[in-house]
Amino acid sequence: MILPVDFSSVKTPCYFYDMDLLSATLDEIERCSGRSRRFSVHYALKANSERQIVEEIAKRGFGADCVSIGEVLHAISCGVPASKIVYAGVGKTDSEIEQAIRLGIACFNIESLEEIAIIDEIASKLGCRPNVALRINPDIDAHTHHYITTGLAENKFGIDMRLLDRAVEMTLGSKSVNLIGFHFHIGSQILTMVPFQLLSVRVNSLLDDVERKFKFKPTYVNIGGGLGIDYDDPDKTPIADFEGFFSTFEREFSSRPDLTIHCELGRSVVAQCGTLLTRVLYVKEGLEKKFAIVDAGMNNLIRPALYQAVHKIENLTSRSQENVRYDVVGPICESSDTFGENLLLAETRRGDMLAVRSAGAYGQSMASAYNMRPEASRIFFSQYQ
Ligand code: LLP
Repeated sequence: MILPVDFSSVKTPCYFYDMDLLSATLDEIERCSGRSRRFSVHYALKANSERQIVEEIAKRGFGADCVSIGEVLHAISCGVPASKIVYAGVGKTDSEIEQAIRLGIACFNIESLEEIAIIDEIASKLGCRPNVALRINPDIDAHTHHYITTGLAENKFGIDMRLLDRAVEMTLGSKSVNLIGFHFHIGSQILTMVPFQLLSVRVNSLLDDVERKFKFKPTYVNIGGGLGIDYDDPDKTPIADFEGFFSTFEREFSSRPDLTIHCELGRSVVAQCGTLLTRVLYVKEGLEKKFAIVDAGMNNLIRPALYQAVHKIENLTSRSQENVRYDVVGPICESSDTFGENLLLAETRRGDMLAVRSAGAYGQSMASAYNMRPEASRIFFSQYQ
């Protein structure tokens, strides 16, 4: 990676966002989803809610997928109309539900039978009839890290398939909620199209069943997010396989041309445009290894500590021809505060700038103040603006 700004002026740790790559990624999503009028793309704000990023996405006309009223209000303030916001989450509070109804969001993705009753009660008090979709747990293995698998029967998300009929009966029988369809999300960082195909097969058969049993024709299917990115080689694959993703669903739902297919992409939209820049504070010789101790910690990027995630790390300033193995570690009082073990880097010294790549998704949005450490600074870079 070549950093297009003066290194000495960068206050580290720093999230560097390549806004031109974000723009190229959005172009590709538009190209692949725009071939047919049936797709409606909602950006999952949880991946990164930085104002500049959400505004850029809103400008393109994409909707938002939110999981708290904080995200709903933020999306609106960044230019996403309430009518393009879908609101999911297993634990929406009464006050969040009420505010979202008043704001006129597009749809609630409902996660339990009890939530149907609560939204119905609140909506009836307000004299409104919000759109709702039932989030169904399709029991499909996304073959990803178990912390980010969500569509298995053992996960807390969605309504169990066995309760589907009850949930449809309840919502169709309600005067205060308007059932428009179904929501699914099977997990994140999915790298082959097979789980998405399996999901489509299951959704098609579920729609057949519901149409037959209830004479109800859904107009909304939300297949969630989950498309993965190339953490190993971000320069080789800076843009995710949106072509594969959208053409899979186009093909699998070709027999239902009237159905609008909604998706909620997060990681694949923003991961590659973000890099965590960090300076080396010390190079410490251990008994068996060398440690490059950097000024970013797990409070800035928790993915390696929480999911054993591997991010590519490069030394941007070393002029050495020699490569040496290091554990790249942060300053926090936890052994898991490690960005990578035994990594081959150009010989590294105090003051060198390291780049932790593919950090745009679930980096800054999962940051904390642990150890009373300050937030990372940010740079939003574009050659063209
Ligand atoms: N829709 C729902 C209902 C979700 O739960 C998620 C992510 C998304 C959409 C967006 O999924 P994406 O396109 O980003 O895969 N912190 C973890 C990832 C957690 C994903 C949570 N849900 C990580 O850093 O890998």
